[in-house]
Amino acid sequence: MRRLHSFQPHKCKTRAFSRKKVDEQFSGTDTGGLFLQSFLEEADRLRPFVPPFRFSAFFSPEDTLLCVCASESAFRRAKEESTEPTDVIRIAELTTGSGLVGIDLLLKDEKSRLLGLDVDQRACDIATGNAKLFKIERRAWFECADIWSDSTIATLIAYDPNLLICNPPYVPEPGDQNLALEAGAGPDGTAHLMRTLELVSTVRPQTLALSWCSLSDPAKVIRRAAEAGYALNSLFVVAIADGEYSGSVRDYLRTLPCAYINENSDTVATIGPDGSARFAYLLMAGEFSRGMDAGNAAETANAVEHLCARFASDGLSALEHPELSFPATSWVLDRWDELELRVMLHGRTKMTRIG
Ligand SMILES: C[S@@+](CC[C@H](N)C(=O)[O-])C[C@H]1O[C@@H](n2cnc3c(N)ncnc32)[C@H](O)[C@@H]1O
Repeated sequence: MRRLHSFQPHKCKTRAFSRKKVDEQFSGTDTGGLFLQSFLEEADRLRPFVPPFRFSAFFSPEDTLLCVCASESAFRRAKEESTEPTDVIRIAELTTGSGLVGIDLLLKDEKSRLLGLDVDQRACDIATGNAKLFKIERRAWFECADIWSDSTIATLIAYDPNLLICNPPYVPEPGDQNLALEAGAGPDGTAHLMRTLELVSTVRPQTLALSWCSLSDPAKVIRRAAEAGYALNSLFVVAIADGEYSGSVRDYLRTLPCAYINENSDTVATIGPDGSARFAYLLMAGEFSRGMDAGNAAETANAVEHLCARFASDGLSALEHPELSFPATSWVLDRWDELELRVMLHGRTKMTRIG
């Protein structure tokens, strides 16, 4: 078992995930080595967001980091293609939480503006405090708003964003579970993204950065984006372990036709070497832009679905050679890496002795 070590800035390594070792342990079959980058390679992007930066409820570092990757790419494209005489990029971030993704972009471009919306007033207050921390409060506004409300459409039309970001809740919600308004994502996990794409077809930003996962009908997101007139330009993927305690969500996921999980012992052991994982799945984030070859959407959606299906049957090797006709970057984040990411973000705090 790999020893836990402290996070070293600028010293993240490419980790070789040895299928051979895992296969020997579980089945004795030598299938050769498998090499995937650790998602910790990208962790430095989150380095400015350590205390006193604050996070809001439902924060998950790997999710947010992946959305940062897609958003930085969408921002670059918005900037390149901008016809704004002032060179100002107006960013709208729906379901903004702590505001981290939008704030990251403002820190990289001193002209840009951010409007962050979240249904949770506490998240908006935290995000406002975070903007003050970086002294960008004159360029970043946060408002309490439900993406389903009519006033949100009006707010977005008036703001007229060039780039729209959304990293919403996207884990499918079993019908008999009453999740909080801020957490539930509908029976197939796409509720927020479907609503976001409805808003997008009215607001028409130039570029989009959206997050979803292999549990939440991955091809549906791409097809609906195409119907709204947006094509996927690049895809960012991370294989991670489930974070469930009871097992009930897995039972529900198994009943869904378009939820892709891998339960093979070698994949699960590689990604959750502490024995805590039930299955592995893929976090995804995409960079989309308006009117760019949206006609190829069916092919793109099928390719993404095929990747997820291959991951479900073959595990991590599907990511090594993703067989896609568009740019895709994939990583893996095992349990230890998840922990390192959290340690980095939470910073060193005084230990409290209990008892
Ligand atoms: C997974 S968190 C992501 C936060 C942030 N985007 C990030 O990457 O750190 C999802 C956020 O969506 C917000 N949310 C959930 N339902 C919403 C809705 N109907 N309208 C607006 N925000 C919502 C939650 O309050 C939460 O802050």
